[in-house]
Amino acid sequence: MTAFPVPTMPAPPVGVVGLGQLGGSLAAALVAAGREVSGWDVDPAAREAAAARGVRVTGQMDGVVVLAVPLPAMARALEGLDVAPDATVTDLGSVKTPVLADVGTAVGHRYVGGHPMCGTERSGHEATDPGLFAGARWALCLEPGTELPRWLRVAEVALSAGAEVVPTTAAEHDDAVAAVSHVPHLLAAALAAAAGEAGPLALALAAGSFRDGTRVIGSDPGLVTAMVQGNAGPTAAALARVLDQLSRPWPELVAAGHAVRAAAPAGRRPVRVPLERAALLSLGRAGGAVTRRLAAFVEGYVPDVG
Ligand SMILES: NC(=O)c1ccc[n+]([C@@H]2O[C@H](COP(=O)([O-])OP(=O)(O)OC[C@H]3O[C@@H](n4cnc5c(N)ncnc54)[C@H](O)[C@@H]3O)[C@@H](O)[C@H]2O)c1
Repeated sequence: MTAFPVPTMPAPPVGVVGLGQLGGSLAAALVAAGREVSGWDVDPAAREAAAARGVRVTGQMDGVVVLAVPLPAMARALEGLDVAPDATVTDLGSVKTPVLADVGTAVGHRYVGGHPMCGTERSGHEATDPGLFAGARWALCLEPGTELPRWLRVAEVALSAGAEVVPTTAAEHDDAVAAVSHVPHLLAAALAAAAGEAGPLALALAAGSFRDGTRVIGSDPGLVTAMVQGNAGPTAAALARVLDQLSRPWPELVAAGHAVRAAAPAGRRPVRVPLERAALLSLGRAGGAVTRRLAAFVEGYVPDVG
């Protein structure tokens, strides 16, 4: 029997709009992975820094176009750029429902929303780190109208940067990150503000627990405000759940919180998932992720609770 070689598609080029911490890091990671990368930023210093890392600076983009601009700039980020009519458009925004409404409506079936769960409290191209995505979870939205081949093309970009892809929807993503990211930013702000009121002695004695609990509120206040206000409903609901927890008797609250932290999965169980929306979303809901794309399915894992 003659064996026919399986045709392999060349990896499409990637264009990154916004070359700050996230976009600059992604462009640098993809250059290091051997992908063809173009990039654009309104700031000439960010363009220069990206060019020095091997990014072709241009407003002409094709393949997969990644919007890595602040949330308020997302809706107009493609204006003035020369983007190929069939390019797939994705974004890195920390909130997904409003971007789906803006960019998704403008770009239609070519849009796939994304959010890498990494980054630091620093901003701008000076914070570029090509290793930022290594091992990070990258939420990638599969709405009812999302075209699977485009979703896979964006997933391959995330995998090339070293991330693991978590299939989800914009609404489920926004509920989840309200609990694990947006509320922690508000709690960090409240903790820091209350410690500030406690006075200089308290701030002088602040050590590890204060540092860990307040680290994220060192971020650019504009970015944090845009993030929590852009996800106001789910964030308010998640904050109400935290306030309920705080009204429990303290021994009970401490035991409940400790139990969740202590129950971290013992490991990972490898799985193969068919290239089908419902199966991929089930993987994400189970706490799993995609780590590799194969011809007819993806490989990944689910948490092994032992
Ligand atoms: N910082 C994090 O921890 C983090 C994590 C995950 C996702 N995100 C998301 O990633 C996106 C970028 O965040 P960041 O931390 O990299 O911000 P950043 O401030 O470091 O970088 C943003 C860059 O976008 C550029 N820019 C602004 N408007 C533009 C426009 N219209 N066209 C081209 N360039 C433009 C700025 O000059 C800047 O270089 C945001 O949407 C944010 O929600 C951030």
